[in-house]
Amino acid sequence: MKVIWNNQLVEREDVKIDMEDRGYQFADGLYEVIRVYNGVLFTAKQHIERLFTGAKKIDLILPFTREKLIKLLSELIEGNQIETGNIYLQVTRGVSSPRNHAYPETECTSTVFTASTTSVPRNLKMMNDGIKVITLPDMRWLHCDIKSISLLGNIMAKHEAHKKGKDEAILYRDNRVTECSTSNISIIKDNIIYTHPDGNLILPGITKSVLFKVARQAGITVKEETFTLKELKEADEVFASSTTMEAMPVIEIDGELVGGGNCGPVVKLLQSLYVTEIETECGIIS
Ligand SMILES: Cc1ncc(COP(=O)(O)O)c(C=O)c1O
Repeated sequence: MKVIWNNQLVEREDVKIDMEDRGYQFADGLYEVIRVYNGVLFTAKQHIERLFTGAKKIDLILPFTREKLIKLLSELIEGNQIETGNIYLQVTRGVSSPRNHAYPETECTSTVFTASTTSVPRNLKMMNDGIKVITLPDMRWLHCDIKSISLLGNIMAKHEAHKKGKDEAILYRDNRVTECSTSNISIIKDNIIYTHPDGNLILPGITKSVLFKVARQAGITVKEETFTLKELKEADEVFASSTTMEAMPVIEIDGELVGGGNCGPVVKLLQSLYVTEIETECGIIS
């Protein structure tokens, strides 16, 4: 399998990363997951913009321009002949030796950039049947808007859900729902979509921004307002969203059914509008 290592496409076995890399020692880095349909990147510009925004917030000088990154990722898709799948990319601040929490004030030139692909079909069964989730206190840090590779809080929440035989964990702070361990969360009540506003407590998801754009175009009201755990559980429909899940119906929360345990009409509509967006950018998929 080909991967990107810094500026070039290489075989995976040829990648050599220093044990003092700050990504390895401090989780000092950023990542993105971009979906590929028909061998074409979907919403790449938005993902790359979020990466550049995150880099600015942590003083990370990215080792490429936006254009160069797109070019490299396209070469990677071509190199691995990916039709439907994911690109995982990450950039770390590179080596600081001897180990030192503080990073150099001056431009750090040793940033390490890697990217790889996996072939993953759309999970149509899950998108139809929906997922079961638990709720948990959000114990993560206060910069959840930065797509940091430091994901212990998210990992622990996801693991807790899996231990209980569920798919995802919905997180809350002070009784207000923030997002999930690996996705954003929205509810629908009386045909209005509610979701936590962007800010430092959630990741500004690209998928939700696409879904809200098409929802508004279809005349559905979207309110970026917080909602409580009680409102979550009394919602008509609930859906999680992410690059890999698209619009994913939530059919059970803490053992109680949502919407009678079926994907509701608004989420179904959002799913089909999302497919239209994919097809506009990447060609026919259905
Ligand atoms: C914590 C968290 N929130 C939200 C999202 C959804 O973001 P996106 O739609 O850009 O994939 C993700 C995706 O990985 C995530 O990890």
